[in-house]
Parts: sequence; C-alpha cells; structure tokens
Amino acid sequence: MSSPFVFTSENQERFQQILARYPNKRAAMLPTLHLAHEQQGHITPAVEEVVAELLEVPLVDVHEVLTFYTLYFRQPMGRHHLRLCMSISCWLRGSDRIQVHLKNKLGVKSGAITQDGSFSWEAVPDCLGACDMAPMMQVDEDYHGPLTPERVDQILEATAQGQEITTAPPPDNTKTEALPIQLISEHFGNSQARELEWYRKQGGYEGAQKALEMQPKEIVDRVTHANLRGLGGAGFPTGRKWSFVPQDTGKTIYLTANADESEPGTFKDRYLMEWDPHLLLEGIIICAYAVGIHTAYIYIRGEYLRAAQILQKAIEEAYREGVLGERVLGKDFQLDVHLHRGAGAYICGEETGLLESLEGKKGWPRLKPPFPAVVGLFGCPTVINNVETLSQLPKILLKGAEWFAGIACSHHGGTRLFALSGCVKRPGVYELPLGTSLRELIYEHGGGVLGDKQLKAVIPGGASAAILTEKDLDVSLDFDSLMKAGSMLGSGAVIVMDEDVCMVRACQNIMRFFAHESCGQCTPCREGTGWVYQILTRIAEGAGTPEDIDNLAELADNMSGTSICALSDGAAMSFRSYVKKFRSEFEYHILHKRCDVEEKKTTVNA
Ligand code: FES
Repeated sequence: MSSPFVFTSENQERFQQILARYPNKRAAMLPTLHLAHEQQGHITPAVEEVVAELLEVPLVDVHEVLTFYTLYFRQPMGRHHLRLCMSISCWLRGSDRIQVHLKNKLGVKSGAITQDGSFSWEAVPDCLGACDMAPMMQVDEDYHGPLTPERVDQILEATAQGQEITTAPPPDNTKTEALPIQLISEHFGNSQARELEWYRKQGGYEGAQKALEMQPKEIVDRVTHANLRGLGGAGFPTGRKWSFVPQDTGKTIYLTANADESEPGTFKDRYLMEWDPHLLLEGIIICAYAVGIHTAYIYIRGEYLRAAQILQKAIEEAYREGVLGERVLGKDFQLDVHLHRGAGAYICGEETGLLESLEGKKGWPRLKPPFPAVVGLFGCPTVINNVETLSQLPKILLKGAEWFAGIACSHHGGTRLFALSGCVKRPGVYELPLGTSLRELIYEHGGGVLGDKQLKAVIPGGASAAILTEKDLDVSLDFDSLMKAGSMLGSGAVIVMDEDVCMVRACQNIMRFFAHESCGQCTPCREGTGWVYQILTRIAEGAGTPEDIDNLAELADNMSGTSICALSDGAAMSFRSYVKKFRSEFEYHILHKRCDVEEKKTTVNA
C-alpha cells in the first residue's frame, strides 16, 4: 500500500485552472499527472486513485495512460535526474563513450539511483531534440552538450552543489548575417525576442493585425496562393487543409499546434519556441481567425521543459497585454491559447495520436477517414499545423502570397528550417529557401564534414527517411525532388555520416528507436520493428546468418502499408535503404563476424 496522496492547497488551485482549459475532465489527465509528479517526484498507486476520482474516470484508464508515457516515474528517483541521449546524432558524436563514463562516475547502472540519492540517470534511445549539442544530456529541465567526460564531471559537480551550469553558447549559425534570407529565424540567439514589448517594436503582431482587418476567406486564399506547405513532415498545402474544415456543423472548431517534434535529428521547432515564442502565437492568431477558431492548444513534447516555460510566459504576457483573450489586439475576435505538455511518446507527433493524447488517452493513432479537419479534437473539426508552418504566416500576411511563393521553387513557397547534425562541422538550424541543394547545406552552411573526412551517407529528412549517399548531394531539398530521389524531406532533419561510420550499427541505432517508440497498436509495426532490431543487433554483434538479409527484406515488405499510421512505413523505408545501399557491409558482418569499417579505422589510426 502506498501512502495516501493529497494535492497541496496551491496545487488544488492549479488543478482547477487546468480543468478550466478543457471541455471535459478526462482531457486534463496528462497535466494532472504532471502536477502530481511535480509535487511528489513520482506517481504511486495512491496518486492514480486520486487522479481517477478527480477526473471521474476508471482507475484502469489512469493506469493505462500512466504506463504508456515514459516521463512519469513510478518509483522515487534521485534529487536530479539525467537523461543521456543515445539516439543517432548523439551516437555519431560519441554518446557511447559518455555512457561508459557516466556509469563509472555515478557508480550505478542506467535506471538506478546513486547511493547518496543525488542522482538517477538513464540512457534513452529517443532523440531529445538537441542534436546540435550532441552528444548531450538533459539534467532536470536543462540541456547540456556537447559533452566530454570532463564536461560531464563539471556538470555533475555543479548540479550536486546547486550551482548554475553555464551552457554552451548558441552555435554560430544562429547569427543572422550568415544566411541569405530569414523569415522566421532572424531572432534566433536573441533572448530579447521573448519579450512582447521588444517583439512588437520590431513589427511583431503586425501580420496578425493585418489579418484581423481582412475577411477570413481572403486569408485562406492568400496562404493557398503562397504555396505554404505543412513543415512538420507531410508537406500538405496549408491553405487547402484549412479549406477542408466545415463551417456549418454548429460544433466548436479547434486548432492544435503540433510542437511534439520527436523525429531523431529534429530540433528546429525547439529553436522557434525558445527564441521566438510570440512569432508562433502570432501565427496561431492568423490561422485561428482565418478558420473561425476560438480555442487553440499547443501540444509540446514533454521533454521540452525549458521551451514550455518560455512559451507559457509569452502566453501569459500576451493575455495581460490584450494580444490574446476576449478582444485579440483590440479587435472583435476572441481567442484562448493553452499549452499542453506531452509526456514522452514519439507517436504523439502523429496528428491523430496527438489528438488522442490531448483528450487524455494513450496516443494511439486513429483510423482515417474521418480526417481531423472534419472529426478531430473532442469529435469536432480541427486544424493541426506544425509550429514552423504557423510561424511562417505573419510574413505571408505582411508581404503577400506572390512574394512568399517566389522565394522557393514552383511547388513550394518560402523557406524552411533545416536541422543539421551528425558528423558535420557546424551543426545547427539553418533557414534556407526550399530547393537549396543538400550539398550547399552541408558544405557551405554546415562547414563540411567533421575532420574533413569523406561523406559516406546523409539522412535528409529525419530518421524515417531513406538514406542518401555522396552521389545524391546535388538533390534539391524540397518535397518532390527528395521523393524522386527515393527519400523524403520529412521533418527537415539532415544527419551526416562520415567514412568511419558502420552502417550496420547506424541502422541498428535507428531501429532501436522505432522498436522503442512503436505504440503497439498494429501487429506489423509492433512485432516488425522489434524483430528488425533483434536481427540488426545479431548482425552487428557477429552472430548474423546469410538468411538475415532476406528476412529483413521480407519484414520491410510486411511492414509497409499495413498499419494505421506511418511509423511502420517510415521504419521500413529507413532500414531497407541501409541494406540496399550498403549491402556489402551487412554481408561482411555476417561472413566475417566483425566490422570492416571499424577495422579500417583501427588500421588507419594505428
Ligand atoms: Fe541526441 Fe538528437 S539530441 S540525437
């Protein structure tokens, strides 16, 4: 029996404020669990009972949600909790070495607490959305990197003594003068932009002001003609998406801003939210007014605690100054914006998984149709737009559709943020017109391959994208060209691998992520991702058999087009491309029970 649990009086008040944000009690599930977690440090069965009673849901539903997400501890942890990222970009930059050091230093294995109770730690397979700092770790709410063993020691010491840890300065690429055009990244690196007054002095909220003087239909037309496409990954035309929303159902229409970026290699939305939170709020106002929306939720990934704090502050300031609320910017238009934190589940970046999660359930994607535009959040018509997509709207309103459409190539308007990481000299976020070549991004903006080594492979659009090689470097970074090249633009996360990277190990790393993050709803995905990871581990460790390569091909076939959402397809697209393009490496591992890339590296270094 766990000890009884009661919310403190302050938290009871906060609970009432949470309830007021949603049309039903169940939707308050994740924030209520966060609140209890914050109060007690972990969730006990007694907490579950209290939450079930408060939200008037069956106890089993609370337990189901609690155990679906990874950020809720169910047992006490150390006074400080560390999450070491082991995902692809951090792995490429040496997270294995940091893991060994951390384990030795703390004297306990991943998942355990140090003897004095100061620290607990875990090596996580998920990308924490800070690949520009790779290898990195999260210490409580803050991110730290690039890590070296010495830096880890300093961070541990400072944390234990309650001292402030000075984080690395923003990478050079956040300076504005380096890039040819900046529509949404001009404030990166400038913390003043977080303040409403400063933002307004630079012309902030003028796009929203202009929108509020137009007819909603005019705005939808302008965004359609601007050729703005969804920048979360799908690339669907934004104006058309808005036009699907029925206006005559008599139901509330909702907006959800998808800030759950979790695709390995992706960290651009974090930059937007941390550096320019009012730009996102301005985009939300424009979209909401255009579609007739009065309630918007920003669904932010649970790990982004710092970004959530910055956004929450910006929202509160916007309410205080009349930018949000009853009369938005003094006009006859009402809009409420609420921040909703996820709790650690990649699948909630999928739009219907996100809706389920926002409704207080585990994030299982829904069968479509019906599409969210018609039946979305709480059964009502819903627009779901990515943070970057929304952030592009103010400039479109101010400068016009033709101007925006003319920036890039024929089927896309404007720019996009590319998150560059891995074996590259200057990792970071680069805003470039769609249609810029992969070569220009890596060599001109990213400074080229780390250590001037040969480039071996590139992931052009997040871990789900098929891998490309040196010969593909002149491909244009846009949705259609990358599709023609057999890959995809996806989340705009570009991950570079040099000549010393073992492609079997790289593929294994990525499939560990997908096996961990499959939500378990569809058999081909749940079983397939796990089997692929097992086979790759076997091959990587010298225990593979010649049939394994055929088995991987068969699994890829069975995992494609057979599940509700795209996770399984993305995973299959990814590992199929590694085997196809680097088959000889897989065969060498199987035949010789060792890695020829590692061997060559050792020989050269000897
Ligand atoms: Fe480690 Fe992205 S933060 S891979």
